[in-house]
Amino acid sequence: MAKHFDADYYNTLSDDDKKALIKCCQSGIDNGDSGMGCYAMQPADYDRFKPFFSKVLADYHKVSEDAKHTNNWDLSGVEGLPADGCLDLAALGLPALSMRVRVGRNLADFPLPGAMTKDDRVNLEKKMCEAFDKLKAMPEYGGGYNSLTPEHPDHISEEAYQQLVKDHIMFKDMAADPYLASAGIAADWPYGRGCYVSEDRGFIIWVGEEDHLRIMCMRKGTVLNEVFDRLKTALDVVNDIEGLSFAMSPDYGVVTSCPTNLGTGMRASVHIGLPNLTADGTDAKAKEVCRPLGLSVRGIGGEHTPIGEGGVCDISPSARFCITEAQIITALYTGIKLLKEEEDKAGEASSA
Ligand code: ARG
Repeated sequence: MAKHFDADYYNTLSDDDKKALIKCCQSGIDNGDSGMGCYAMQPADYDRFKPFFSKVLADYHKVSEDAKHTNNWDLSGVEGLPADGCLDLAALGLPALSMRVRVGRNLADFPLPGAMTKDDRVNLEKKMCEAFDKLKAMPEYGGGYNSLTPEHPDHISEEAYQQLVKDHIMFKDMAADPYLASAGIAADWPYGRGCYVSEDRGFIIWVGEEDHLRIMCMRKGTVLNEVFDRLKTALDVVNDIEGLSFAMSPDYGVVTSCPTNLGTGMRASVHIGLPNLTADGTDAKAKEVCRPLGLSVRGIGGEHTPIGEGGVCDISPSARFCITEAQIITALYTGIKLLKEEEDKAGEASSA
């Protein structure tokens, strides 16, 4: 943000636009250790402040400033895809792993989370609950909604909430994240926050986190296609519900609060044990090996959390923008293949 904040451009803006752009940059102004340092506040911000965001996006995502994003979930013809189209980790000699694919989505007719009022948050949750009623009535989904909003008909207790966090189903109190707090995204906690969980607990929709919605499929297994395909089907169901329209940018695809997620809003990950690469008890070596493979390493409790027991790490392709959804899930497979080779090598080196 700071690198591409151009005073000459800023000075051409109206007073209102100046204020709005500073609000997008507030998180980075307050947090000098930010990697990105800005969030969009309105669905149209990426286009409204294009001279700023195009530079930020080009630098972070390593694309050109006039890059255009295209969404595509079709796997056919994607480089690295096995001939049978099946992204089966068992073929790489791996056991069943916890697999997860999520996409961020925002409704077109609300401000993005950083600029929402408490009423906006409560109203968005209300609107989503009508959509969840439709999912609840469908046998493939069923389940129910869990709200943190006081007085909400689906309100859950503090203990039930903590259990959902432990089960990796619900998100943590966002106030603990200084970036989200400065951006206004964590404001009015816990109003308008909750999650829909399908009967089998494999399909989940977060409401009121960094994006209006984080829609995800989780499952323990080896075939990545299972979570990818289920998410695509479910996403189409949600998108087809009357009155729900997702924010899209004409050039940039799916609109997300954070420019790091723009385009697909997708993160596809597995929890994988890397005991050899994490033999020193940290993820430093794993990160070093993963970076050139285009993979990011996180702890198993989410962003900025430590690695799990036995060196279990959360691994996902880093790319989100100017890449298709199909390429992301394939990149997870091909990346894990190379990562496993590194993990095995590290094991041989330490036992030699
Ligand atoms: N705003 C933070 C930074 O600039 C987080 C960026 C990426 N993480 C995220 N959850 N969007 O470092």
